[in-house]
Amino acid sequence: MNLMEIITYSPEETSALAYKIGELAQPGMVITLEGDLGAGKTLFTKGLAKGLGVTRNVNSPTFTIIKEYKGRLPLYHMDVYRVEDGDEDLGFDDYFEGEGVTVVEWAHLIADQLPSELLGIEILYLDEHKRKLTLKPQGDMYVELCKEISK
Ligand SMILES: Nc1ncnc2c1ncn2[C@@H]1O[C@H](COP(=O)(O)OP(=O)(O)OP(=O)(O)O)[C@@H](O)[C@H]1O
Ligand SMILES: [Mg+2]
Repeated sequence: MNLMEIITYSPEETSALAYKIGELAQPGMVITLEGDLGAGKTLFTKGLAKGLGVTRNVNSPTFTIIKEYKGRLPLYHMDVYRVEDGDEDLGFDDYFEGEGVTVVEWAHLIADQLPSELLGIEILYLDEHKRKLTLKPQGDMYVELCKEISK
């Protein structure tokens, strides 16, 4: 499986998909989120966090690049939109290699620092309530995850 496309017709549908991924996520998984402003990256992260058993409210880490939450596994939520130099070593590896699940919004800005295996997700705005999510699994673990989702 190279990629999987899913259309959602409401924020709730996107949240439900993200929740499922949160439930299935395993230690060390990295999920990258791409999409324009308002596409649904943070909404997706919130849904994933719930599925991961995070009870605290997840909000966009505007002034901090990384926020950590406790759940069944830790969630590391990164929003690298404001990282000025995408090649600068800000210690991302410690998170990618950690026991938690990392979600990276605007991941392409630190493309060269991303691990080779990850689940890439692009959210495309189709209309006010409609989004196309393209899931690109890189690595066996993520291909399996996508297969589970599509069941
Ligand atoms: N099908 C849908 N899936 C996801 N979000 C949707 C959908 N339909 C409408 N929305 C709305 O789109 C908005 C997405 O906002 P969100 O903050 O998650 O975007 P973002 O990609 O994180 O943007 P930013 O880059 O500005 O942080 C929410 O208000 C959500 O209710
Ligand atoms: Mg956001």
